[in-house]
Amino acid sequence: MRNKFKTHFYLFVCVIAICSCKNKENIKVAEGLKDYTTFPIGTAINIKILMNDAELQKTQKQNFNSITATNDMKMQSIIPTENNYNWKTVDTILNYAETHNQRLFGHNLIWHSSTPEWVIAKAEKDSLWLDSFMKEYITRYVGRYKGKVAAWDVVNEAFESKGGAYRETIWYNKLGKRYIADAFRYAHEADPDAVLFYNDFNIERDTLKLNAMLKIVEEFKAEGVPISGIGFQMHIRMDIPDETIAYALKKAAATGLQIHLSEVDIIFNKHDDTKEGGVETYSTITDEMKKAQGEKYKKLVLMYREIVPKKQQYGITFWDFTDRDTWIRGFFNIQDWPSLYDDNLQPKPAYFGFKEGLEAELKN
Ligand code: XIL
Repeated sequence: MRNKFKTHFYLFVCVIAICSCKNKENIKVAEGLKDYTTFPIGTAINIKILMNDAELQKTQKQNFNSITATNDMKMQSIIPTENNYNWKTVDTILNYAETHNQRLFGHNLIWHSSTPEWVIAKAEKDSLWLDSFMKEYITRYVGRYKGKVAAWDVVNEAFESKGGAYRETIWYNKLGKRYIADAFRYAHEADPDAVLFYNDFNIERDTLKLNAMLKIVEEFKAEGVPISGIGFQMHIRMDIPDETIAYALKKAAATGLQIHLSEVDIIFNKHDDTKEGGVETYSTITDEMKKAQGEKYKKLVLMYREIVPKKQQYGITFWDFTDRDTWIRGFFNIQDWPSLYDDNLQPKPAYFGFKEGLEAELKN
């Protein structure tokens, strides 16, 4: 009798244990995009807006496990005037990332568009100074956040908007094309574990530009320059053919480097990279357009998952994730709706399309 009781008792304990384990599994419900995938899902965001908007923060934490600063980590923000390093905002971003378990992506070290006027003025007079400044800047910055910033866009947009020519920036004009390799070397010396990216736009659609970029990647690999990844900004339009994007992803993935879709957004109107302002054909958005955008987002993530081998998937990062905050409207002076969330911070078909692309079973 006692033995029977014992057996029943143990059975009872086992059932309870199994049930509570199951329940625990159930408790870990998916909250947002980051929970549907193995690679990080990131967003670039203006850190001051994020800090002052509780609703935005809630949605950001739900969906993303990687964060990039839209402007706060660029040279213009870090050293706006000579000898005046400003780390405060970076420390705030880092603290947010660490507190909420998000990867901090460093954007960027060298970019013509964020080179402060005082740097340009000094460099015009003295190329040697520019060389030593670049070394000091990268060494100090990357060194300060060693082990904290997971990856860097080391050089951003070194090629012209169209075609394969080097962009004639102060860096290129004064130091020659070797400034790119040097920047990677300095960054690697300062943090050997950081993942180092070359980042650019239009490389998903302009074969000349793509090839020029791939050429330096191959040169770097042959010379032992420590490059570890390619960043496709992926500021695309609805009418950029998926096949064109797939071709570029395939070529880039063949390098074996990490592939980051680093600044994703999809617009209906046109960017115009040759003059300020874009071309606005659509000034309102219809339900049909929203649906088509959802499909485009779905295809983009499917292509990334199908073409880029798992071990090279560094992640997909959106450049602002709401239409309310998108940089597109201000920068190109056009109306548009490029993001996952709308003006009222509600998820759009773009969000659900992207999520479907993350969840869908792959054919192969
Ligand atoms: C943009 C910011 O979002 C804007 O606020 C700023 O006015 C200009 O820069 N490619 C890049 C990003 O690499 O740094 C740019 O960010 C968008 C294009």
